[in-house]
Amino acid sequence: MKQLFDFRKGINKKEMQIVINSILHKGVVIFPTETVYGIGANAFDKDAVTKIFKAKNRPADNPLIVHISNYKMLDEIVTNVGEIERKLIDNFWPGPLTIILPKKEIIPSNVSCNLDTIGVRMPSNQIALELIESSGVPIAAPSANISGKPSGTMVEDIIEELKDKVDYIINGGKVEIGLESTVVKVINGAVVILRPGKITPEDIKDLGLKTELDSHIFKEIDSDESVESPGMKHRHYAPKTNTVLVYSKDINQQINKIQELIKKNNDKSVGILGFNEDIDKFSKYKNIAFINIGSRDDMEKISQNIFNDLRKLDELNVDVGIIEGVKKEGLGIAIMNRLTRACEHNVIEV
Ligand code: TXA
Ligand code: MG
Repeated sequence: MKQLFDFRKGINKKEMQIVINSILHKGVVIFPTETVYGIGANAFDKDAVTKIFKAKNRPADNPLIVHISNYKMLDEIVTNVGEIERKLIDNFWPGPLTIILPKKEIIPSNVSCNLDTIGVRMPSNQIALELIESSGVPIAAPSANISGKPSGTMVEDIIEELKDKVDYIINGGKVEIGLESTVVKVINGAVVILRPGKITPEDIKDLGLKTELDSHIFKEIDSDESVESPGMKHRHYAPKTNTVLVYSKDINQQINKIQELIKKNNDKSVGILGFNEDIDKFSKYKNIAFINIGSRDDMEKISQNIFNDLRKLDELNVDVGIIEGVKKEGLGIAIMNRLTRACEHNVIEV
């Protein structure tokens, strides 16, 4: 890394210009968005995009999201925007929604991993918007993390793993949302959610649009199975710690099951990612460390902190990790999708 710029108190124009020059000269830059930090490069520059894959150690078949700051850029990169997609754009951009659209030739094949579509998103974060707008080019950016690890929601979490692999890092403080954007594709007139996020199925239904969750959101996928979004197949969010997700619609049953697991592992050290309300249910056990992920009713707070909490679990260096599940509704769908994947589908449902 050449330099770390601190924009937490505001954008420094001179420093921003240095980052823009880097983007226009094949640089790779970490910048904040409202969802998670991105690791970005000029989406028109194939060589620069190659560097992103290298920096993240990203599988070559997992396409990148292209970030734009205005609608002229959209016309430059996609061949057509359908009526349903237009409605989504009008209602949710700038914001945490990525829409899969048919791509133009101008976008190099490594951005889309040879698909004829690209994911496009207009972020709402001011630093991200100004970076794209002043660069004058769309920025291809996956989440800032080494592939397989939890996405970066604050610079402190990712600086060690990525500082030697990028040109510049912009610190914009802790992100607002904490989970990656909702990814959708319109298929046969329905908005199919390929990756759940802050924009929920209800938000989309409220526009009078037909909406469905892709069937793979909570399912383990065979390596030879074909899926709408390559990212669904790859290991993601996983801490090093061997971790299990315990989920029940009944809170007491969920707590009982976790207590049972703690007792079963009494010769081991156990890290628990659990709710504020449940601390005293677990505090009597001597072999546990408790990470408070917030109140079970405050989904926004949980989503903002969850990737950082997963990283904290690793820092505990315990033998076993146990995570409390949240309700699979609203934002809870996205949280449970990330947690299911973090546990590599090691889920106990009671
Ligand atoms: O919030 C976000 O979306 C963040 C910030 C930086 O914008 N970005 C992000 O990128 O999460 P990434 O690369 O970590 O996730 C992109 C997801 C992957 O699951 C990928 O497979 C999917 O979008 N995707 C990208 N292009 C696609 C396409 N053409 N068709 C289907 N899925 C696509
Ligand atoms: Mg990612």
